[in-house]
Amino acid sequence: MKILVLSGPNLNLLGTREPHIYGTTTLADIERDVAAVGAELGVTVACKQSNHEGVLIDLIQAAHGDADGIIINAGAYSHTSLAIRDALAAVAIPYAEVHLSNIFAREPERRHTTLAAGARAVLCGFGAQGYTLALRGLVAALRA
Ligand code: DQA
Repeated sequence: MKILVLSGPNLNLLGTREPHIYGTTTLADIERDVAAVGAELGVTVACKQSNHEGVLIDLIQAAHGDADGIIINAGAYSHTSLAIRDALAAVAIPYAEVHLSNIFAREPERRHTTLAAGARAVLCGFGAQGYTLALRGLVAALRA
């Protein structure tokens, strides 16, 4: 089983970016933890990050026939991008949407996500560990 872990804009700045909201864990730390949990679960994990909507869409399209599941934190595109939702629908790969912060407790414009309706699960508010929690949950769901 292969899982693509996709992070969107500004998540490359985790560690120093608004640490009172997102914590001090870096994306490299998260990707290391995700790889370790992937090894524990016996799944292959590929981590990718881009600041560009079109690149994220290319990565989702490239996952067709390659990945069995996707963990996605599309950053601010989560609130705006029909194109990313369409890409996820087009490849029909089960995905879990992740956010470090509890987006439902933040500004009104962050309380809606375009991706949630098509997601197998949505997990937000657990900080960096949301990624590994989502990986465990998605793998269990795919194996069920
Ligand atoms: C985020 C929440 C988004 O609203 C924000 O634009 C991000 C990060 C999160 O992980 O909490 O970039 O997706």
